[in-house]
Amino acid sequence: MLSVNQAKRILKTRPFYRNVQPSSPWDSFLEHFQRNESVQESQKEITLPELESAQRDHLLRSLEIFRRGETGEGRILNQIELLSYYPVDQEYRKSLRLFVAEEGRHARILGQIIKQLQGEGDPSPLTQINSSESENSISYRLFYRARGLMGVRLKLMVLLCAEIIGCESYEILSRALGNSKAGERLMEIRQDEEMHLRFPCQFFPLLGVRPIFRKLWNMLYLPIALLACFTVILEHRKTFKIFDVPLRDVGSQFWKRILTGMQWIKDGIPMEEAK
Ligand SMILES: [Fe+2]
Ligand SMILES: [Fe+2]
Repeated sequence: MLSVNQAKRILKTRPFYRNVQPSSPWDSFLEHFQRNESVQESQKEITLPELESAQRDHLLRSLEIFRRGETGEGRILNQIELLSYYPVDQEYRKSLRLFVAEEGRHARILGQIIKQLQGEGDPSPLTQINSSESENSISYRLFYRARGLMGVRLKLMVLLCAEIIGCESYEILSRALGNSKAGERLMEIRQDEEMHLRFPCQFFPLLGVRPIFRKLWNMLYLPIALLACFTVILEHRKTFKIFDVPLRDVGSQFWKRILTGMQWIKDGIPMEEAK
């Protein structure tokens, strides 16, 4: 015998009549990602502001670590294909595919900035960071390797926390690069990351509508978000410092974003913000 909640979920996710599609909670996210996908990637040359060699070296190292992080999301797609519980539906799967593709675009943009930075000045040991080094960075191990051991819900929670880092770190670095093209491109990534943060935040209130579940997700979210932000601040502290961004400011920026995420996990995203 079906419970009322089970019946509601089935009605929301399965079309019973031909040509009648129920609306999905992911429609507006899907529209957003499709719109973004249709925008042509800019091929314009990336310009940089005047940088001291130590600033260039630290920026290069940080961007390489972030670039590596942008390429690790694909594995979750196969797992989502196998899930059939609410709120996973076709729109969610399509949105997630476009979300992952967007992360690939971020990796390409970061790659272009890195190439440009490498083209300026003599290489120093700090700029020699190779892919195995960036794969061994604390944040990479935390977000991507450890995630291979987790279930989908926990993975989505870690992905959500990675988006907090994306939003704030790219904003800080784009400000550091001023009005240059490289700064503008980092700001573009940052805007995408804002929507990326909303996307997994919306998953959890839909997953568990009962207050006890909402409390549970927040109890899970807070320590992961704090650990993630602490790790990233520790790992990139020299980069922030060399661009004169006090760590206290970085910390308070991350904290504000953590609180926003907490609110969204509890109450969901207002519809006008999911566009
Ligand atoms: Fe990204
Ligand atoms: Fe993202």
